[in-house]
Amino acid sequence: MGNNVNKIKKKRKIKWPGIIFIVILIGIIILINPLTLVSRIKLNNLKYSKESIKNSIEYNVDKDLIKLGYNKTLDEALKDKKYNKDNFKEYSKIKYVKQDNFIDNINKLLKKKYSTDDINLINKTATKEDIENLLSKDIVLDIDKYLEYDYAKVSNIDRYVSYKEENDYSYEEVVTFVNIGLDKDFYDEPITVDKFDETMLVNKYRELPEDYEPEDLTTIDAAYASDNNQKATKVVVDAFMEMAKDAEQQNLHMIANSSYRSYQEQKEIYDLYERQYGGQYARDYAALPGFSEHQTGYVIDIANKDHEIFDGTGEFQWLKKNAYKYGFILRYPMDKEDITGYAYESWHYRYVGKELAKKVVDSGLTYDEYYMRYLDK
Ligand code: DAL
Ligand code: ZN
Repeated sequence: MGNNVNKIKKKRKIKWPGIIFIVILIGIIILINPLTLVSRIKLNNLKYSKESIKNSIEYNVDKDLIKLGYNKTLDEALKDKKYNKDNFKEYSKIKYVKQDNFIDNINKLLKKKYSTDDINLINKTATKEDIENLLSKDIVLDIDKYLEYDYAKVSNIDRYVSYKEENDYSYEEVVTFVNIGLDKDFYDEPITVDKFDETMLVNKYRELPEDYEPEDLTTIDAAYASDNNQKATKVVVDAFMEMAKDAEQQNLHMIANSSYRSYQEQKEIYDLYERQYGGQYARDYAALPGFSEHQTGYVIDIANKDHEIFDGTGEFQWLKKNAYKYGFILRYPMDKEDITGYAYESWHYRYVGKELAKKVVDSGLTYDEYYMRYLDK
């Protein structure tokens, strides 16, 4: 009996070190896991985060991840609580942007059946509210047709869709016109302009502060003006004088008929037009105070010295060909009344600088369109 007990004790003593060794070995194997070691080294070299590497192995996508190389969206997705394994391929096609709930938003947009291309376009300008708005309603099937334009804003998507339904315009026109504000009434919810330079856009949707006055107003030589109190900013006066003198070589004589107008002077002009010619005429030919380009100091209404109807004159014909070379554009062209909000004004020239004037003329667009497409940053 005593012997038997000893034998059993002896046996147990002999087995312990072996068991401990095996347990440690299993532990080491689990810890290092040679099967995933290569993946982990490669993903680490690709600069994936520790958490993404760990999760990619757990979700069994480590090999796919290695094939793709580093992808910031996937790196974020794999770390995210909302990671959805069904969307792995889609994540890889979506450009990373800094956005609250980025991965969750992608999942939800994909569920709405937006494509990865759509989502990339959406993400270019989307705020939290824009995403919430898109998620709150049915998919906009042609969203890419609007958002393919760099100047499209996803915040305007509902307005684009309604405007497109109501008008026979191309997507490009819809985006441009809505960005101008043409889906709203003139003077409705205007923006106050706060960047004052020779490119600034002032129209029936964009007003100047009442007290805005250009810095370096300069009087135009009375020989080239309707009276001795015509002013514009210095750069405009210089450009106008150079232009007028070059035109003189062709026996053409242009004068500044009306140039800088203060808020108060604009008000007087509007009221005068209204009294003399009626409300419609005033609305077509004059801006409400604050909304006139004349207040910028970058405008000259040009006349010839005999004050003939301007677009029948040689001066007008010469300007049509040459004004842009001096930095001026015709601001309210014929047949563009619906866009500019003003009747055709053959005399109203806006200075935007030589380089920009050429681009605007080459584009064939009104300045309102050109600005909202290319300058509205
Ligand atoms: N005549 C232009 C539109 C103005 O009043 O500013
Ligand atoms: Zn004018």
